[in-house]
Amino acid sequence: MTSSQSSTSNGCLYGVGVGPGDPELLTLKALHLLQRVPVICVPQSETSRDSYALSIVRGFLDLGRQEILRVTFPTDDAEGAARSWRDAAEVLAGRLQQGQDVAFITEGDPMLFSTFSYVLESIRTNHPQIPVEIIPGVSSVMAAAASAGVPLVTHGQRLAILPAVYGIDDLREAIASYDTIVLMKVNRTLLQALASLERLGLAGKGIYVRRASTARERVVRDLTQLTEEDLDYFSLLIIRKGE
Ligand SMILES: C[S@@+](CC[C@H](N)C(=O)[O-])C[C@H]1O[C@@H](n2cnc3c(N)ncnc32)[C@H](O)[C@@H]1O
Repeated sequence: MTSSQSSTSNGCLYGVGVGPGDPELLTLKALHLLQRVPVICVPQSETSRDSYALSIVRGFLDLGRQEILRVTFPTDDAEGAARSWRDAAEVLAGRLQQGQDVAFITEGDPMLFSTFSYVLESIRTNHPQIPVEIIPGVSSVMAAAASAGVPLVTHGQRLAILPAVYGIDDLREAIASYDTIVLMKVNRTLLQALASLERLGLAGKGIYVRRASTARERVVRDLTQLTEEDLDYFSLLIIRKGE
């Protein structure tokens, strides 16, 4: 739980992690909260037709009683995205100031590469009187390790989690300093990442996990077998130096 500056009149903003995909991986705390709050805020990019986070929890909601408040953001325009998040935070602040509790849902955990962090920053800066609570979720990193059946790190080993937008130099640096590297958001850059693995002498050390914990899950240990249709935004690459 984060600091909550209590107020009797404001609703509480909840950042809720809904896990990697399997609804059974939702925590009991998240489930109880999502069934109670009047407003569920669903972030989604301008280009996506639906929200992955919402698809995980939809079956638990009562849409006759609960409002789905969608907030959209552009993915290819950093300034536009920042403006969208400020606008979204103001929309949420309006509801919260009316005394409504709002649950902002994010896939996985809300504190790891999550859109919730932008809204959180904006609310904390511009509306510090609004109470905030964060409910952690099972991150895709943990779910992917479980699906692959590999420990991420043991004993004194070191783990790095990188968005795959970095280039080979960053990967080289990470590989020099860490035992295991998890590359997230790999779909667009996967082919480059794979080429980088070859160049770094790490061919055969990567495991690709798509849509961990769902019916569309796929775990690929021989990366040369990956096809275009395996590639998916909801996928990551686990690179273990020692394997
Ligand atoms: C914006 S980040 C969100 C991470 C999320 N907050 C978490 O804790 O897992 C999106 C990235 O998470 C990863 N991801 C999310 N769900 C996944 C899943 N079920 N299987 C594999 N990777 C997933 C992918 O790398 C995707 O590009």
